[in-house]
Amino acid sequence: MISFKPLSVKKFQAMNRFVRSATCEYLADNDGRPGKRFLELYKELSRGNIGIVITGFAYVMPNGKSAPGQTGIYSDDLIPSWKEVTKLFRDSNSIFIMQIVHGGRQVRPKGNPGPIWAPSAVPDSKYKTQPLEMTETQIKEVIDAFIKAAGRTEEAGFNGIQLHVAHGYLLSQFLSPYTNRRTDDYGGDQEKRTRIVVEIIKGIKQTVNEKFIISAKLNGEDFIEGGLTLNQAIESAKLLKDAGLDLIEISGGMAESKLGSVRKDIANIDQEGYFRDHAREIRKEVGIPTASVGGYRTLEFIEQTLRSGDADLISLCRPFIREPDLLLKFKENEIDKASCISCNKCFNLRGVSCWHLV
Ligand SMILES: Cc1cc2nc3c(=O)[nH]c(=O)nc-3n(C[C@H](O)[C@H](O)[C@H](O)COP(=O)(O)O)c2cc1C
Repeated sequence: MISFKPLSVKKFQAMNRFVRSATCEYLADNDGRPGKRFLELYKELSRGNIGIVITGFAYVMPNGKSAPGQTGIYSDDLIPSWKEVTKLFRDSNSIFIMQIVHGGRQVRPKGNPGPIWAPSAVPDSKYKTQPLEMTETQIKEVIDAFIKAAGRTEEAGFNGIQLHVAHGYLLSQFLSPYTNRRTDDYGGDQEKRTRIVVEIIKGIKQTVNEKFIISAKLNGEDFIEGGLTLNQAIESAKLLKDAGLDLIEISGGMAESKLGSVRKDIANIDQEGYFRDHAREIRKEVGIPTASVGGYRTLEFIEQTLRSGDADLISLCRPFIREPDLLLKFKENEIDKASCISCNKCFNLRGVSCWHLV
């Protein structure tokens, strides 16, 4: 089975084609420090034989915090707590990556110190924010914060980072013509809208060891009028590859979109892999290792996606919340489908968990 065949990612080897996609844990303290329950969750994941494990989104600046209980990586003081987490993966064969983010306009004003920033002052009807248009100095501050955050993750023992350039958070806001209406060096055409991420990648490459993995989660489409199209996503992905991106994960949607990133009620195989077409087109055009995320549930469909060459890796989020040992069960032929019913009740601000198991 191709699903259980290894894949080289730079100098690392993923033991199989599965990725635990970034999943906000809602288990950090107010300063963004991962605590005891966080460690328990990752201990289980470290034993799950998952090729690549990606943490939930960690904010790189205090005003980039989106959710209560979200982890942070905005200060050197947080490194010792993260070392406790990476220690769990020392004896596991999983590649361990931290997802880093700035929320931009998608932040809850309560619990965020502000000011709320975005490429342009486009209000967000879902988060009910009215962001301020960022100055070039503030853009440089954000670039610097991402580069420093990546350095901290390396020091804490991670094998790489994933830039969150999807789902309508700040970097995804820059890529999207809907949220980025700038006419300076950071907006106006797709190359300029992508520039902030290109500068972050180039800066990280100068900071970290050469084997450190630099990856990104990117929208294949925003699914909002005036938002990022697939062709624009392809153009951005090519620029990110040229800047030195090693691995890309394709998702879609933003908080205001009608078609979201985390679709509910996936009941049959036809509903699986809802961003697969976007992954295929981007992989074909860009040619770097590509993960596809969104609604993968049955081993048969996962195998078919990998065999067809639409993706190199398959990412799952909700199935691993319910069954952190899912791959062990797949491999032993105990089951051939994740039992997650995609009800989305796992979005639990008191700690991510499967509602049906509690
Ligand atoms: C509880 C929960 C938390 C999530 N947190 C993040 C996150 O921190 N970063 C991210 O990129 N996506 C996040 N997602 C989205 C998932 O990574 C994934 O893209 C989406 O759930 C679709 O995959 P699935 O059908 O396998 O769940 C989250 C999803 C859920 C359900």
